[in-house]
Amino acid sequence: MIEVRELTKRYRDLVAVDRVSFNVTKGEIVGFLGLNGAGKSTTMKVVTGYIPATTGTAKVAGFDVFEEPMEVKRRIGYLPEIVPIYPDLTVTEYLDFVASIKGVAKKAKKGEIERVLEKAQLKDVRERLTGNLSKGFQQRCGIAQALLGNPPVLILDEPTSGLDPQQQRNVRELIQALAAEHTIMLSTHNLAEVEQICKRAIIIHRGKLAADDLVQNLISRYKTPERTPNFYEVFDTMLNDLDRQATPAANTAVRAA
Ligand SMILES: Nc1ncnc2c1ncn2[C@@H]1O[C@H](COP(=O)(O)OP(=O)(O)O)[C@@H](O)[C@H]1O
Ligand SMILES: [Mg+2]
Repeated sequence: MIEVRELTKRYRDLVAVDRVSFNVTKGEIVGFLGLNGAGKSTTMKVVTGYIPATTGTAKVAGFDVFEEPMEVKRRIGYLPEIVPIYPDLTVTEYLDFVASIKGVAKKAKKGEIERVLEKAQLKDVRERLTGNLSKGFQQRCGIAQALLGNPPVLILDEPTSGLDPQQQRNVRELIQALAAEHTIMLSTHNLAEVEQICKRAIIIHRGKLAADDLVQNLISRYKTPERTPNFYEVFDTMLNDLDRQATPAANTAVRAA
C-alpha cells in the first residue's frame, strides 16, 4: 500500500532522510519510530505529498506521490504533528471546511461529517469551538479530519504526544479500532504503545533505516536465556549500538557537501 524506495530528503546541507526504503502492506498498522530529528515527520510529509523528495520515490496504492498527487491525496488521511485546527471554528464547521478542501462532494459532505464525528467520538462536542477543547479532543478532531473521504491509508504523526495517560489510551483505542479498515503508519515515542498496537516497527536513526521487522522479532534479537527485554530496552540498545558503530567519518557524511 505504501512503497518507499531509496528516499532521500535534503534541507540545504542537512540530509534529513538518507536512502530509506520500506513497504507497508494493506491492512497493516506499522509503528514508525526514532528519536527527535531522526527524520520521521520528513518521511511522512514526503509520503503524503506535502513536500517533494530530493531523490527516490514514494508510492501509495500504486500511484507515484509526485506524478499523481491527486490520486495519492484521495487515498491518504494525514494527521500532521501539529494538529491543523482553527480555534474559532466549531468542530462541525472545521470538518465542513476540511471536507471542502479535500473535495468531498457537496451531496456526500453532511453524511461524511456525521460518519467521522461518530468514528472519532466527537458527537458530544460537535458545536464546541475547537480552540476550547482539551488536547485529547483536539487530537480527535485531527483524526476526524484525516478520516474525511474515507481514505484507505492513514498517516498519523505522533497522534498521542502531549496527551495525558487517559487521553493517550482513548486515542490509542480509537486507532486500534481504525486498524480494522485502514492501513496505518503511525509515529510515536511511546514504545509500550507500539508493543500494544503495532505488529511491525520501522526504526529510523539519523535519517537512515535502522530496523524494519516484527516487534516480536526485534525483542527476540536482544533476548538472553535469563531475560526478555521490553521494547524500550531493545530500542535503546539498538540505537546505542548504531552510534557506537558509526565512525567519526560516517557522522560527518550526514552533512552533504
Ligand atoms: N523545513 C525544514 N528545514 C530545515 N531542516 C528541517 C526542516 N524540517 C526538518 N528539518 C530537520 O530535519 C531533521 C529531521 O526532522 P524531522 O523529520 O522533523 O524528524 P522527526 O520527525 O523524526 O523528529 C531534523 O534535523 C530537523 O531539524
Ligand atoms: Mg516529527
